[in-house]
Amino acid sequence: MRFYAARFGEDVELWGCTALLHDFDYEIHPTLDEHPQEGASILRDEGYPEEVIEAVLSHAEHLELPRDTPLKKTLFACDELSGFVHACALVRPTGLEGLEPKSVRKKLEQPSFAAGVHRDAVYAGAELLGIGLDEHIANVVAALRPIAKELGIE
Ligand SMILES: [Fe+2]
Repeated sequence: MRFYAARFGEDVELWGCTALLHDFDYEIHPTLDEHPQEGASILRDEGYPEEVIEAVLSHAEHLELPRDTPLKKTLFACDELSGFVHACALVRPTGLEGLEPKSVRKKLEQPSFAAGVHRDAVYAGAELLGIGLDEHIANVVAALRPIAKELGIE
């Protein structure tokens, strides 16, 4: 999210915080009748900007809210794919180094690999961003590379 915020000339801290917060309530609200709606209430009580709260709410597919801002679009587009790219890196001896969009796409076509990742959301996310899937994958890989050590995929 920070990568895309910088690329789009948006607020890097705000976008980074939104990404960090979007699932913050998942452990206390693990079911879709509460997540992320109840979490959004907590954020509202804490005085978080409405822009952040609306983006958090819009990442949830079951709420079917419009993703009508660059922040909402990008959060949705990065959510599943960043986890998937992480999983791809974990099973490679060189991690993110040399990880090509082509091989990520191949893994996406294997339903048993990282089965919890919703493929449809990955494809829809790239479309929502208005870029090709390969470009989106390459961006996510490039964004994660500088923080590979923190992610445990160095
Ligand atoms: Fe979530």
